[in-house]
Amino acid sequence: MSEEQATAASGGIDVLLHTERTFPPPPEFAARANASDPGIYERAAADPEAWWGSWAEKLDWIEPFDEILDWSNPPFARWFTGGRLNVSANCLDRHVAAGAGDRVAYFWEGEDGTRKEITYGWLLERTQRAANALRSLGIGKGDVVGIFMPMVPEAAVAMLACTRIGAIHNVVFGGFSAASVVERMEVSGAKALITADATLRRGKPTPMKAAIDAAIGGLDSLEHVIVVDRAGTDPPMTAGRDHRWEELIGAADPVCEPEPMDAEDPLYILYTSGSTAKPKGIQHTTAGYLTGITATHKLVFDLKDDDVYWCAADIGWVTGHSYIVYAPLANGATSVMYEGAPNYPAEDRWWEIAERYGVTILYTAPTAIRACMKWGDEHVDKHDLSKLRLLGSVGEPINPRAWLWYHERVGGGRCPIVDTWWQTETGAIMITPLPGLTTTKPGSATIPFPGIEAKILDDEGNEIAEGGGNLVLTRPWPAMARTLYKEPERFVETYWKRFGPETYQVGDAARVDEDGYFWIVGRTDDVINVSGHRLSTMEVESALVSHPNVAEAAVIGVADEDTGQAIFAFVTPAGGASGDGALEADLRDHVAAKIGKLARPKRMAFADDLPKTRSGKIMRRLLRDIAAGRELGDVSTLRDPEVVKDLKRQLSA
Ligand code: WT7
Repeated sequence: MSEEQATAASGGIDVLLHTERTFPPPPEFAARANASDPGIYERAAADPEAWWGSWAEKLDWIEPFDEILDWSNPPFARWFTGGRLNVSANCLDRHVAAGAGDRVAYFWEGEDGTRKEITYGWLLERTQRAANALRSLGIGKGDVVGIFMPMVPEAAVAMLACTRIGAIHNVVFGGFSAASVVERMEVSGAKALITADATLRRGKPTPMKAAIDAAIGGLDSLEHVIVVDRAGTDPPMTAGRDHRWEELIGAADPVCEPEPMDAEDPLYILYTSGSTAKPKGIQHTTAGYLTGITATHKLVFDLKDDDVYWCAADIGWVTGHSYIVYAPLANGATSVMYEGAPNYPAEDRWWEIAERYGVTILYTAPTAIRACMKWGDEHVDKHDLSKLRLLGSVGEPINPRAWLWYHERVGGGRCPIVDTWWQTETGAIMITPLPGLTTTKPGSATIPFPGIEAKILDDEGNEIAEGGGNLVLTRPWPAMARTLYKEPERFVETYWKRFGPETYQVGDAARVDEDGYFWIVGRTDDVINVSGHRLSTMEVESALVSHPNVAEAAVIGVADEDTGQAIFAFVTPAGGASGDGALEADLRDHVAAKIGKLARPKRMAFADDLPKTRSGKIMRRLLRDIAAGRELGDVSTLRDPEVVKDLKRQLSA
C-alpha cells in the first residue's frame, strides 16, 4: 500500500505533522526505571521464549507449565501448556496472602462525587461471594456471562468472579445500544447477564437494565439477569429471571476456591468491529494473556509500589480489561477508577481527581487529550499535578501538537510519554517506548516491546526496511488472541491468510523510519476509529439501511480534529423521503438505537445515487475525495459522473 492509499484509508487524516524534537528519557527517571538495561531487547529477541517464560514464572501457578510455546499449528498458538492457574487468585489471593489485604486496589470516584477505597481484601471477599452466587445459578466453567455495566467496582468484581469459576465473560461497553447487547449475547450464547439499574451520565441516571429489558426477553440462552443497584432507580424485574446483586451476594458463601484453569482455557471474549457488519468475538486465554499484560504493565508504566496509577479508559474496551482490571490487580497496583465524564461538573474534573489521589501515572487517549486542550490550560493549571511522573497514550495516533501539550501542560515537561500501540486482538501493548530507555519522537509509538517483532510489508509481502506499508507482527506473543469465538476459519481468514499463517496481519498501515521507529497511519480495512473506538463502516451502513427511508448508504471515516476520525454517511433516501435536516436527525437517532451513540454519523449528505463503478460497486475512494474536498482520483471506472458533480455541489454549498 502506498502512503497515499494509507492516508486515504485513514480518512485523509493528517495527524503526523512533523516535529523534529526528540525526547530522551530524563536521567533521573532512567536511573530508577524498571527497565534500565538496553540489553533486554537483544536478549528477548535472541530467545523470546525464555523472555516470556521468565514473566510467566512470576505468576502464581497451581500446576507449573511444561512447555513455553507450542507453535506447531500456526496460527493457533499454545502458551505455557500443562500449566494450571487461576486469574482471580493471581489478582487477589496472592496479595491478600502476602499481607496486602488492606492495600487500596482502587480509589473509586463516582461521577456524583461518591468516593470509596476498594481494598484487595474487599475485592477478594466480594469476588468469592459473586462467584458462589453465579454457581448457585448453575453457571460454571466454560459458560458465557455477559457484563453490561457502568464504571463501578462491581464491574471488576463481576469479571473476577467469572474468572474464579472459569466462566467466560463477554463485556459490552456501557454506551452500546440494547440491540448491540442482544446481538453480542445471542452470538455468544450467554447464559447470564450482569448489569446495573442505571449509569450516571452528567449527573442524570440513564437506565441500563430497563433499556435492555424488552430486547433481551427474546434470548433463548439467557437464563439469568443480575442487577447491581447503582442509582436506586428500581427497574422492572422479571420474576424467575432477574436477581438483585446485593441479595445474591449477601446470601452467598464468602469462600470460593479458585477453579484451576488450564493455561489455554478461555478467559474472556470481547466483541470488536471488523470489516463486516458482524462483530468479531476476540477470544483470550488464561496464562498467556496474564503474562503479556503483567509484563507490559510493569515495564511500560514503570510500575512501583508507591505509584498511584490511573487508566482513564472504560472497562468495556480492551484497554479497561487489560490495564484497569487484570494487569494492575495482578501487579498489586493502587489505581484510580473514575465513573464519569471528564468535564462533569466542570472541565477540571480529571485534574481535580489526579491531584486528590496524587496520581503518578496517567494513561488516556489522544481524543481526551485534545478535548482537555480545547477546554483550556487554566483547568489543568489550577491543580497540583507535581506527583505525575509518567504519561501514556492509546487508541489512535497522537498528533504531535497534542503530544507536546500533554508533555508540557500536564506533565510539566518532566514526564516521559509512552504512546502505546496495540489492539483488542493483541491483548497487550505491542509497540511502545520503555520510559527509561527509549528516546521518544512525538507521533511515533516507537519500537516493539522486547520479544515482539514488527515489520512493514508491501502488498506482495516483501519487507520494507524504511517506508510505508502494511504493519505485521512476525512472532507469536503470549497475549495474542487465540481465535474468534466459534469462528476459527474467520480468525485465519482475517488475520493469517494474506501473509501466511505465521505473520499476523494487523490491519493498520504504518511507516518505519531510519531509526526503526514505527509511525501508525491508520486502518487499511473498513474500520473507522472514532475517539479511539473501533467501528466498521458496514455496521453503520447496515444500521442506516435498516431505516425505512433509506435506500442505500455508504459510510466513510473523515479526519476530525476532536475525535481523530468522524463518520460521514452518504445516503440515498427511499419511500418518498427527502434528504433534509429532519431525516438526518432521524437517522442519527436510528443509528444510536441500533449500535450506540458513538456510531452516529457526524456529517451526512443525501444523493439520488452514489458514485459506483459500472459493475455497481460503491467507490468509497471517491467519497473520501469528495468529503475532503480533494481533487478526485481516477474516475475512469465511474458509471455516472453526474452523481459526483451533484455531491460536490452539495458539499461546497
Ligand atoms: C486499533 C485497535 C488498544 C486499545 C484501544 C483500541 C489504533 C491503538 C494506537 C496508537 C496509533 C493506535 C490502531 C489499532 N491504535 N493504539 N498508540 N497509535 N493507533 O483497541 O479497538 O482494538 O483498536 O486502534 O488502528 O489497530 P481497538
